[in-house]
Amino acid sequence: MKINIDLLRELEQSIDIFHPEKGKIPIKMLGFGEISLVFKILDDSEHLAYKRIPIFDNEHQVKRHIWAYREYNKLLKERVGLNLPDYDVAWFKDQEGKIQFYCVQKKINSDSVGNRVIHVLKNDEIKTLVLLVMRELKKVWGFSKKNSVIDLGLDGQISNFAIINYDPNNPKVNLDTKLYYLDTSTPMIRVNGIEAMEAVLFLKSAPSFLRWLLKALFLEETVGRYYEWRKVTIDLIANFFKEQRPELIPSLIRLVNKFFREEAPEFEIEPITFEEVQKYYKSDKNIWVIFQSVRKFDRYLKTKVFKKKYDFYLPEKIKR
Ligand SMILES: Nc1ncnc2c1ncn2[C@@H]1O[C@H](COP(=O)(O)OP(=O)(O)O)[C@@H](O)[C@H]1O
Ligand SMILES: [Mg+2]
Repeated sequence: MKINIDLLRELEQSIDIFHPEKGKIPIKMLGFGEISLVFKILDDSEHLAYKRIPIFDNEHQVKRHIWAYREYNKLLKERVGLNLPDYDVAWFKDQEGKIQFYCVQKKINSDSVGNRVIHVLKNDEIKTLVLLVMRELKKVWGFSKKNSVIDLGLDGQISNFAIINYDPNNPKVNLDTKLYYLDTSTPMIRVNGIEAMEAVLFLKSAPSFLRWLLKALFLEETVGRYYEWRKVTIDLIANFFKEQRPELIPSLIRLVNKFFREEAPEFEIEPITFEEVQKYYKSDKNIWVIFQSVRKFDRYLKTKVFKKKYDFYLPEKIKR
């Protein structure tokens, strides 16, 4: 994979964090999460997707993270058997000595990503897609179940999966469809119960004065839940509220419960209820709304009051 570090340096020097697409190096945003910003560089013949993660204070931290990232990707690909786009990382110290870090992946067709396709597929095909996602998840939890040392976590949201060989002109999903898993930048590996990644990094983008509070309130719950298949599944389904397809939720709950019963009985997972999904969705929504508004305030303080640089891109109102 050919990554042009000089171009990234130039990009960092000129990035307009309020309007990332208007900087000197032309980029197009492919997606953004609560912390990261995923973009492509226009006219990039390598067709790469860059995920910018501005959370590292020192070399030790970034190196440890890269180690965990590579381990995680390798395990998911070689031992678990998920399909991942080709990947790499890039990092450097910018002019001010600050660490800039990117996860880099082969760019896949944006139309093929789960949260897009659920707006064009037929309802039956969406159900098939969720079934296929459940089969990918079973590989992950099957691995952890067999392995007495390593536990893997995964973020099963529909926006983290994409359809391989997707044809936007003829969108289709059937039981033979293969999926990519995209969201590997937060390495969730526990070795004998100990987190390989510094979990605290996850909250690095929250303002410092509130970090301890968020940590106490949410960190165990937010990171821990990605290791539990049942919770990850609730998260996957609750996502359909956010993606504005709530009418599908009852049938998806029936589908995953049937899946647990028939395809994964050895995991002894209790059936999921609608009330649970709804309650979860409301509390999750609150966590992120608080998180984002606190960050907006922090950005205001840093840029307007203290005239300092702000590292993060903050999405405009995310529809939830
Ligand atoms: N390799 C890629 N090619 C094209 N788009 C991508 C790629 N990786 C991520 N994206 C887009 O960016 C979004 C966020 O990426 P993801 O890795 O899930 O990060 P986050 O941690 O922010 O959820 C994805 O839902 C997808 O739309
Ligand atoms: Mg994601």
